[in-house]
Amino acid sequence: CGIVGYASLTNTACAKPLEVCLQGLERLEYRGYDSAGVALVAPGMGKVAWRKKAGRLNNLVHSIESQPMPEATVGIGHTRWATNGEPNDVNAHPHISQDEKIAVIHNGIIENAAQLKFDLQAEGYTFVSNTDTEVVAKLAGKVADTIIAETGKPDLFEAIRRTARMLTGAFTILAVDVRQPGIVVGIRHDSPLVVGLGEHENFLGSDLAAFVAHTKQAMELGQDEAVCISGESIEVTDFDGNPVTDSHRFTINWDASSAQKGGWDSFMDKEIHEDPTAVADTLLGRFNPNGDLNLDEVHIEPEVFRQIDKIIIVACGTASYAGFVAKYAIEHWVRIPVEVELAHEFRYRDPILTPRTLVVAISQSGETMDTLMALRHAREQGSRVLAICNTQGSSIPRESDAVLYTHAGPEIAVASTKAFVSQVVAAYLLGLYLAQVKGTMFRDEIHQVVESLKDMPRKIQWVLDTQTQTIARAAKSLITAKSFLFLGRHVGYPVALEGALKLKEIAYTFTEGFAAGELKHGPIALVEEGEPIVVIVPSSRGRDLLHNKVISSIEEVKARGAFVIAVAEEGDPDVDRYADVVFWRPTCPTLMSPLVDVVPLQLFALEMAKDKGLDVDKPRNLAKSVTVE
Ligand code: G6P
Repeated sequence: CGIVGYASLTNTACAKPLEVCLQGLERLEYRGYDSAGVALVAPGMGKVAWRKKAGRLNNLVHSIESQPMPEATVGIGHTRWATNGEPNDVNAHPHISQDEKIAVIHNGIIENAAQLKFDLQAEGYTFVSNTDTEVVAKLAGKVADTIIAETGKPDLFEAIRRTARMLTGAFTILAVDVRQPGIVVGIRHDSPLVVGLGEHENFLGSDLAAFVAHTKQAMELGQDEAVCISGESIEVTDFDGNPVTDSHRFTINWDASSAQKGGWDSFMDKEIHEDPTAVADTLLGRFNPNGDLNLDEVHIEPEVFRQIDKIIIVACGTASYAGFVAKYAIEHWVRIPVEVELAHEFRYRDPILTPRTLVVAISQSGETMDTLMALRHAREQGSRVLAICNTQGSSIPRESDAVLYTHAGPEIAVASTKAFVSQVVAAYLLGLYLAQVKGTMFRDEIHQVVESLKDMPRKIQWVLDTQTQTIARAAKSLITAKSFLFLGRHVGYPVALEGALKLKEIAYTFTEGFAAGELKHGPIALVEEGEPIVVIVPSSRGRDLLHNKVISSIEEVKARGAFVIAVAEEGDPDVDRYADVVFWRPTCPTLMSPLVDVVPLQLFALEMAKDKGLDVDKPRNLAKSVTVE
């Protein structure tokens, strides 16, 4: 879900809370788009003003346009990705206390909601929705009344902290109260929340996109911290009310404009075309003038790196495929085993972790709960964790021992594209750095690989410039295909998996990715007349054996009537002979090829989804960052 909160001084020229909330929600809509809502508070209000609507944010905006909401001093807004209660008007956030004085929005899951609800119902509280959030709202109302009875005055900050102490699960909660119309209170436990620092105005958001249009000054909140913002102040405490004074402040290093479409039809279109820049920017500033790698920013001593004898990469979705690509390179360069594990499987299988294991958590958002839980488990077991992440101020880098940021810029489309190539590059940099400190490669060899990496933005651009039309034509001709198979070998295998995932995510086509060698062990039974099969073909130079084997796979499926779409090196004569359609890539070393091979597959999925008239940026049932386990 996406969360935004705003507090200003009434007598300043600050933006209006409703505008800030709606604008923030627009920027956060990629975090969830099942329903949206806002709550506003101003001095003199007897009850919270709120509005919520199922469906896209536009439904809420239209409702407010036709029936305007009152002026306010503070506001909170929510865009929902339903985990608890179906997406409809009633289950949308905000949820309201029994006396309608407090409004609450929430991201996460309250695990003890059923028990709390049962207890509240026994006391006469009534419920209209079947969400866990309404339980929090009713509970917060009750606690607030208790505080008033004890002290004679309202204290929303304390009420929400006390409420937090009664909750189990994962939650970011924001609350407003008509009795304190100048403040917004937030709490976080295993769920994201960042603070934006303005002049006479302050912000809360699930991520920086919520408020980057207003301020570039931000502050991280730690685990189990509570925050109270007004137009002039920010107070941070733990859940017991003890002040927290060491919150990390930082300047956001990207512009609001980079989170806008800028003339493209969709964010995904724009972001695929940013693949070359994402690669170039992730390489930037990571070398000494003599060409050696310099990763001082990761703050792990070279001596510690030298001791590492195993790497485990934990990640989900696209990020896991980036890790899978990196496994081939790092094992080859560093000669230590690299395991790649889906983060949600990792901690439940009692993995073997030692202080000499380096766990690498890859995540674009830095908020994927499965990945966060995996890294916590690794640290508990005494292993070091290095995060490869694209989002400042997010939880995964904050909880890791070190972080290597990808510099892809904000990625808004739900299906990950430019983040993938930047993750591969960052993981390669890590591998090369390990090779440098461990001495497993000669300096010249490392420099040579670095030169190839630096050449990749140009090669990706070549694909974008020359292949788009072929790809669009192919997508159009295959629009009625019921299913696709994707095949690859070596680094082409994770690329095949990623290509298949893209098509599932945004074109809703049934796809499977396989290691090409596995074809004869089962998948070939699926091949029938006209079945489209996408094959990633390795270079015909150098690794002849692998190339020939993949060509044999193409021949096998062609013999059974398949329609073959190949991704192959420019001028490969064998591919020309057997494939029905070819997406060409320029010549590059094998380990570099995933950075170009994935690009036509991203475009192919995009074109297919567009042809089907689907919303490519916001595919059904998905959310950009999954902050629940
Ligand atoms: C979700 C998204 C995927 C993404 C995955 C991991 O499932 O829909 O596109 O690859 O999360 O996200 P992360 O932010 O951790 O890279």
